[in-house]
Amino acid sequence: MSALFGFRWCGSRSQILFNIYGKRLQAPVSKRLIHKTAGVLSVSDSEFTAAQDRLNSLKEDPGNEVKLQIYALFKQATTGKCNISKPGAFNIVAKAKWTAWDSLGDMSQDQAKEKYVGIVKDLAGQEGGEAEVASTSEGALSFTGLKYTVENGVATITLNRPNKKNAVTTEMYSEWVTALDTAGADDSVVLALITGAGDFYCSGNDLNNFMKIDPSDLYEESVKGSHLLERYVNSMIDFPKPLICAVNGPAVGIAVTTLGLMDVVYASDTATFHTPFATLGQSPEGCSSYTFPQMMGSAKANEFLLFGKKLNAQEAFDRGLVTEVIPAAQFRETVDSKVKEYAQLPRNALRLAKNLIRETEKERLHKVNRAECDLLIERWTSDECAQALMSFFSKSKL
Ligand code: COA
Repeated sequence: MSALFGFRWCGSRSQILFNIYGKRLQAPVSKRLIHKTAGVLSVSDSEFTAAQDRLNSLKEDPGNEVKLQIYALFKQATTGKCNISKPGAFNIVAKAKWTAWDSLGDMSQDQAKEKYVGIVKDLAGQEGGEAEVASTSEGALSFTGLKYTVENGVATITLNRPNKKNAVTTEMYSEWVTALDTAGADDSVVLALITGAGDFYCSGNDLNNFMKIDPSDLYEESVKGSHLLERYVNSMIDFPKPLICAVNGPAVGIAVTTLGLMDVVYASDTATFHTPFATLGQSPEGCSSYTFPQMMGSAKANEFLLFGKKLNAQEAFDRGLVTEVIPAAQFRETVDSKVKEYAQLPRNALRLAKNLIRETEKERLHKVNRAECDLLIERWTSDECAQALMSFFSKSKL
């Protein structure tokens, strides 16, 4: 999940300054940036998470003062009133953050969310001329690590970083959510196919992103990462059409754990399935703590999820993780021909049948997802995780 931490800024500093109660101290921006949520409207959780994603994708650095306000509002919105003791005078960064958070006093969590979303909208509006936080229209799809195509009723999402074994970056998590939202809303799409470019399906989270985090920001970045991960997994839980995964080669971590949320999984006979969470001081996600024991039985799921036993394609098939194993030489051709045929089936019948099969489990899956993401905040901030990663990076050329 390291990839979820990649919160960074580039470009020149913006001149927007706000005080912590949302009044402008200095705002050389046009009136079009004054957003409609500046008053009493409350924002939904999805608007709040969309604002976090949008913040991560800003091109311009808004400057330290705005960043401090955003930090303080985020803490107030997610934790409530400042509940930590004042850092020592020599810890300048931690003290500045504490002061910003503490000065929000008794501001309600809803109010903090609203102001947070408002600031992000203003910043986004200044960059793009639009005040909207999220855009999911097909025309707006422009991805860094994914390829998205629609043909003959099939939306194909390809993890597209073959030289990095399709390791998932922060941007790719957000892009995935956008791609699935778009495919779900597009009437021309009957089903979605997910696969990887090159010889790997996916090597899991991009571990390099751990290296980008300032240790003093670890907790905040972990909370943000957890929210993004939750949204990413929810995009699969809630996808309204058949979701087919073509595991074209080895799969690691999150690329494996989310397979229980796919409706059909085809695997090349070169595919392997590996969840090395314990080695990395982390814990299972993608609802696998629930879906894997259900599909494999707890004894087999435990060996896999707790001890990181690597499975080959046949073993994954035997455990119910895979629908069919297909020889590598015919893999893509066979999968393409199957999905093309499925996409000719009556779309409403497919959608309604999927809904019938999945609906009863949805609430539970959301709950499991939240619990797994919460635990990961603890894991990512633990000494065990830090030590496991240091050991990994010291041995690896990553
Ligand atoms: N994060 C970041 N980069 C990764 C990556 C990951 N998860 N997996 C692979 N890469 C990069 C490698 O750094 C390498 O980049 P380089 O060419 O710039 O050095 C490139 O992808 C190829 O990987 P390499 O290790 O040379 O290929 P391999 O076939 O020998 O091994 C893996 C592939 C996936 C087994 C190995 O890279 C690995 O163990 N990656 C980490 C997997 C992981 O732990 N994921 C998180 C699970 S929670």
